[in-house]
Amino acid sequence: MTTMGYSGPDFYDQSSVYDTYMQRRSKSQNPNDTIEKPIFMGLVGSVRNRAILDLGCGNADFGLESINQGGRRYVGVEGSKNMVKAGHTTLQGTQGEIIHSSIEDWDYPEETFDLVVSRLALHYIKDVEACFQNVYKTLVPGGQFVFSVEHPVLTACTRSAEISTRRADWIVDHYFETGERNFPWLGSTVIKYHRTIEDYFTAVQKAGLTVTSLRESRPSPSNLDQDEYICRLRIPLFLFISSHKA
Ligand SMILES: C[S@@+](CC[C@H](N)C(=O)[O-])C[C@H]1O[C@@H](n2cnc3c(N)ncnc32)[C@H](O)[C@@H]1O
Repeated sequence: MTTMGYSGPDFYDQSSVYDTYMQRRSKSQNPNDTIEKPIFMGLVGSVRNRAILDLGCGNADFGLESINQGGRRYVGVEGSKNMVKAGHTTLQGTQGEIIHSSIEDWDYPEETFDLVVSRLALHYIKDVEACFQNVYKTLVPGGQFVFSVEHPVLTACTRSAEISTRRADWIVDHYFETGERNFPWLGSTVIKYHRTIEDYFTAVQKAGLTVTSLRESRPSPSNLDQDEYICRLRIPLFLFISSHKA
C-alpha cells in the first residue's frame, strides 16, 4: 500500500525531516556540494550586478554567496516555514529578501530579474509549464533561467527508494508514465512529480525561452574521493537546463 506523501513545503516543515536533511547537507562529499553545485555555478557564471530570483531557495545559501559575489538584488521564494526561518538567519544583515510563498502562487513581477534560478525544487511542482511561463514574465529581455532537478531516471519509479537495505542497483521503470509519485525519504513520504527529460526541455521552449545548455550530473574526480567517484559514475543524480529570454 502506498502512503500518501506531503507536498514539498509540508515535507520540510516536519522537524525530524528538516533536521535529518540539514545534517545530510552538512556532510562532506554530499552530492549537492560536490556534484550539483559545481555544474550549477558553471551554468550561471558571474552574478555580479544581477538581480536574482531563487525559487525554492531553502536556507538561502546561494543568496548569501550571490550577495558576497556582487549580486545587485536577491529574492528567494520558499514554501517551508522552517526553510524561511533558516533563510532569514543566513541573510541577516544583508539586503537579501525571503518571501514565504509557494512557487506556484507567488505574484511574479514583470521584467524584474536578470537571473532566475531554482535548485532541486521543481520536481515538487505539479504544473511546471505554468511555472516556466511565470519565469519568462519576470525575466528582463536577455535574462537567464537555470534550474536543477532530480534526474528523471530517479523520479520515474519509487521501488529503489522503497528498498531499505544498501542499494546494489537502481530500478528505472514506468518512465513515460509521468505524474505524481509518493517517495519514501528521510523517514517520511514526499510527493514528487515525474517528467521525462524531453518534457522539461519542451516546457522551457514552450514558455518562449531558448535552451542554451542541458547537463546531467557527470561526476568530476577532482571533487570526490575515489570510492564516491566510482559510485557516482553509475547513475545521474541531477538534470540541469540553462536558458535565456531573447
Ligand atoms: C531540496 S530543497 C533545495 C533547497 C535549495 N534550493 C538548495 O539547493 O539548497 C527543496 C526546497 O524547495 C522548497 N519547495 C518545494 N516545493 C515548493 C513549492 N511548491 N513552493 C515553494 N517552495 C517549495 C522546499 O521547501 C525546499 O526548501
